[in-house]
Amino acid sequence: MHENMESEQSLLVPSAVDSYAWGESNWEGPHPSHSTSQSSRNLPLICRPWRLWHRATLCFAGSRKASWRRYILGAAIVIIVVVIYSVSESSHRSLMSLVRGRPPESLFRCNNLANASLPRLRVPPKTIENRLREDPKVLLFTETRYSKTGKDITNILVANRIKYKMEVLGKSLPGLTNLSRGKYGTIIFENFERYLQIDPWNRELLDKYMRDYNVGMIGFMPSHEDTQVGAKLRGFPLYVHTNMALENISLNSENPVLQLTRAGGTITDNVPGSEWTVFSLDDPTYVPLEWGYSSVPHFSEEKLVSIILDKGDFDGISRVLFGNSLEFWLHRLLFLDAVSYLSMGRISVSLDRYVLVDIDDIFVAKKGIRMTADDVMALLESQNRLQEMVPGWKFNLGFSGKYYKNGYPEENVGDMTLLEHVNDFWWFGHMWGHTQPHLLTQTDLEEQMELNKQFAISHNIPTDSGYGVAPHHSGVYPVHEPLYDAWKKVWNVRVTSSEEYPHLYPARLRRGFIHRNIMVLPRQTCGLFTHTVFIDKYPGGREVLDASIHGGELFQTIVFSPVSIFMTHLSNYGNDRLALYTFESIIKFVKCWTNLNLRTVPPLQLGEKYFHLFPEERDPIWGYPCADRRHLEIWAKEKTCEQLPKFLVIGPQKTGTTALYTFLAMHPAIVANYPSPETFEEVQFFNGKNYYKGIDWYMKFFPVPANSSSKFLFEKSATYFEGETVPQRVRALLPSVKLVITIIPPSKRAYSWYHHMRAHNDLTALQYNFHEVITATEKMPRQLRTLRNKCLIPGMYAKHIERWLDYFPASQLTIIDGEELRNDPVYIMNDLQKFLNIEPFYNYTEHLRYDKRKGFFCQVIEEDKTKCLGRGKGRVYAPMNESDAKLLKEYYQPYNIALEKLLTRLDYPVPGWLEDELQ
Ligand code: A3P
Repeated sequence: MHENMESEQSLLVPSAVDSYAWGESNWEGPHPSHSTSQSSRNLPLICRPWRLWHRATLCFAGSRKASWRRYILGAAIVIIVVVIYSVSESSHRSLMSLVRGRPPESLFRCNNLANASLPRLRVPPKTIENRLREDPKVLLFTETRYSKTGKDITNILVANRIKYKMEVLGKSLPGLTNLSRGKYGTIIFENFERYLQIDPWNRELLDKYMRDYNVGMIGFMPSHEDTQVGAKLRGFPLYVHTNMALENISLNSENPVLQLTRAGGTITDNVPGSEWTVFSLDDPTYVPLEWGYSSVPHFSEEKLVSIILDKGDFDGISRVLFGNSLEFWLHRLLFLDAVSYLSMGRISVSLDRYVLVDIDDIFVAKKGIRMTADDVMALLESQNRLQEMVPGWKFNLGFSGKYYKNGYPEENVGDMTLLEHVNDFWWFGHMWGHTQPHLLTQTDLEEQMELNKQFAISHNIPTDSGYGVAPHHSGVYPVHEPLYDAWKKVWNVRVTSSEEYPHLYPARLRRGFIHRNIMVLPRQTCGLFTHTVFIDKYPGGREVLDASIHGGELFQTIVFSPVSIFMTHLSNYGNDRLALYTFESIIKFVKCWTNLNLRTVPPLQLGEKYFHLFPEERDPIWGYPCADRRHLEIWAKEKTCEQLPKFLVIGPQKTGTTALYTFLAMHPAIVANYPSPETFEEVQFFNGKNYYKGIDWYMKFFPVPANSSSKFLFEKSATYFEGETVPQRVRALLPSVKLVITIIPPSKRAYSWYHHMRAHNDLTALQYNFHEVITATEKMPRQLRTLRNKCLIPGMYAKHIERWLDYFPASQLTIIDGEELRNDPVYIMNDLQKFLNIEPFYNYTEHLRYDKRKGFFCQVIEEDKTKCLGRGKGRVYAPMNESDAKLLKEYYQPYNIALEKLLTRLDYPVPGWLEDELQ
C-alpha cells in the first residue's frame, strides 16, 4: 500500500548515534534546496522524541557512578516522557507519517488523442432560423411529473440554463406556435414508445410541426425486463434488441452530432449494466453514434449500436434515439449535443469553460498536515503542467497572516517557500484570524482586515486582486452588510464567491448575484475536504474520488458550469497532495472526452465574464434564511425570522389600503411596520431600489417582538400588487406569508389615482386632464405615457393576481372587495381575522365609527374625535364624466371577464360592481 512504510518504521529504532545525527541535521527543517525524497519529509517529527531519548541516555550512561538500575530507571522515565510527548504533541502527525506513502499521480491516459478537427456548429439557413422564436425552448414529454429520466433531463436543462416546457403526455398537445412562430427548438420523448403510440391526429400535428420548423426529436428507449430480439419499431425500418448488457462503450467519431462530446476512447468502468436497447440498422438514414459489446454468446462478436442518429431521410424528421437512460455520464454529454444538433444550433451551450482553483486558506491548517517545501515545489510543477493544458492556469491563494509559520519547522519552511514564489500565484486576503465575519462588527472587521493587509504588504504579497473570500461563506450570503463595507474599504474587493447562494444543494442551481457593487460568483465543491488528506482515507475509498473525476460529479460540474470556481484547502496540497491529483486527472479527462475550451483568468475578469454571460443573474433574490440550517449558522445571532412580517397588504393603490392598514394596526396582536422617512407608512421594499439595500434594511422596519410567536408583524405597500418581480421576491423571502388584496371598480380606482397624483402636485397630472391621460398614445411624451401606465395597469386585476398565484397557493391569499370594506368594515375585519388566524379576537364594532362628512368608517380616537384617516383620504373631486367612464368600461372589459372567472374559480362571491361592469 505504502512503499516506504517499512523504512519509515525502521527509523523508530535506530542506534543512538544514528538517531542523534538524524535529529541534529534536520532540527531546523529541510532546506528547500535539499533532496525532495519522500523520507526526508518526515524526519524532524520522528527525530524529535529521539533527540530527547538520545540526550537523556547519554546523560545517564555518561555518569561514572551510574548504576545499571539507575540507568534502567532513567530509561523508563525517558520512555514515559517520550510517549507522553508523542501522544500530546505529535502523535497525530507521527501516525500520519507512519502511513505516509508516495502521493498518488494521475494515471489517466486518453485512449484517443488523435487530433480530431473541432466540430462546427450546425447553422440553420436564414430562412429557417427566423421561423422559430428568438429563444426557443425544449418541449419535453414525460410519462409523469416525477419520472426518473424526466428528472434527469430537466436537471441537465436547468444546469445549462436551457428553457423548457414539461408536458405530461395526455390527450392534447400544447400549442406549438405563437403568431406563426415555432415555440420549441427540440422535442424530447422521455419514452420513445409513447411517441409511436400517440393518436394519428396528434402525431400528424407534431410531425408536421417538426418538418415545417426544422425541429428534431430526441427519444429514449424504455428499459424492458424481457428480451426481445429483432423487434421492429412501428412505422420505421428499424429493429431493436432489448434488455442487453453492454460493456466497452465507445463513440463513432465521424458522427455529425458530436459537438461538446469528443470520442475519447473506450469506456470500461462505470457502464450501466443491463437493460440497454440496441439498434439493428437496415436503412442508410440511420447512423450509429455510440456502440458497445455484449458478452451474450450470440452477440459477443458484434459491435452493438446503442445510440443512433436518424438523418430524417425516411420521413423528413431528424431524431437521436438513446438505447439507455441518462444515468450513464456519457449520455448526458451526448444529450446536450443532440439538443443542439436537432435544433440546428438554436439551443446550444458555448464550448468555453472557465476554471479557477482557490486554495482558500494557504496558512490555515493544524501542525502536521500543512505543506512542506517539497509540497510547494510539487504545487509549482503541477501548475506548470496544468498551464500546458489550460491556458492561464494559476492557483489562487487565500491567506490569513495570523497562521503564517504556525506549523512544524519543515512546514514553516514550506510557508516561507510559498512566499519565495509569491509571484507565481494569485493571492487574495482572507480574514487575519480566520474568524467568521458575521460574528464581527464593522470596526472589528476593518481591524482584522487591516492586520492581514499589513501582513501582505510586509511579505510582498500583492493586495490588488479585488477578490476576497470569507471563512465558511459567513457574511457573504446571507449578507452581513458590515462585511461588504469593510471589504470595499480595506481591500477594495469587487468580486467574491460562495457556495451558499441560493443554497449549497442542489449544486446545479448555484448562481451569482451582485450586491453593493461586489460580484458574488457561485463556487463549486470538488470533493476534497480539509480533513481528508490521504487517498486511502478518502470517504468511500479512492474509487469514489476516481468515479467523480471519470465522468461523475466533478466532471459534470466542469462540463455543465460555464464558470467553475473550486474551493480547496492547504491540507490537500501537502500530505497526499490530493488536490494536485484531482485537478490534473480531471483536466486530462475533460480534454479527452470533450471539445471544451478550458481557460483560467484572474477573479476580477472572471466576475465580469460571468455577468456578461448571465446578465439576468445580476439582481439578487433574497431567500428566507431560516429555511436553511447552514444559512442560520452564518447569520448574525441577533437576527431572527420573527422580525419578518407574517402578512402583507399588497394593494393596489387607491382601493382602501390605508383604511385597512389603520384598522389592522388597531388590533392588539398585530404590529405594523415603523414608518419610512421617504415613503411614510409604506416600506416599499420588494418593488423598487430598496430591494437592493438587502434584508437587514428591511428588517429594521420591524420591532423584534418580545413574545414573538403571538405577534403578527405586517406591512402594507400598495405598489407590490402589480410589480412584475414582486411575487417571486416575496415568495423567496417570506414563503409562508399571507397576502391581502383589495379591489374596487378598476375605472374608479384609475380616476381616484389620477386625483391623488394631482393632490401630490405631480406636474404631469397637473398638466394633462384625465381624458388626455387615459387616451395617451405611444407618440405622446414619455412622462405622459408613464403616468397613463401607472393609472391604468394596476386595474388589470386578474392578470396581476394570476402572477401572484404562480408563486403562492390560493390558500395564502385573500381578496377583499374594497367597496364592502367601505360599507361594512366590521364584517370584513372579522373575516380577515379568521383568514389570518389571529387571536385574541378583536371586536371592531366598538372601535370604528361612521364619519358622515367623509362618507366612510374611521377609527374611534378618544383624544381627537375629528381625526379620520388623515386629510388625504376621502378627497372631494368632480365625478368622472360619462364618456371617460364608458371608455374605461370597454378598456377593462377583458380584464373584468378574466377577474370574474378567477373569483369564481377561487370560490369568491362576484362583487355587485363587477356584475355591473360586465353588463
Ligand atoms: P379617494 O382618495 O379617492 O377618496 P388607498 O388608501 O388605498 O390609497 O385608497 C384611498 C381610497 O380609499 C380613497 O379614495 C377612499 O375612497 C377609500 N377609503 C378611504 N377610507 C376608506 C374606508 N374607511 N373604507 C374603505 N375605503 C376607504
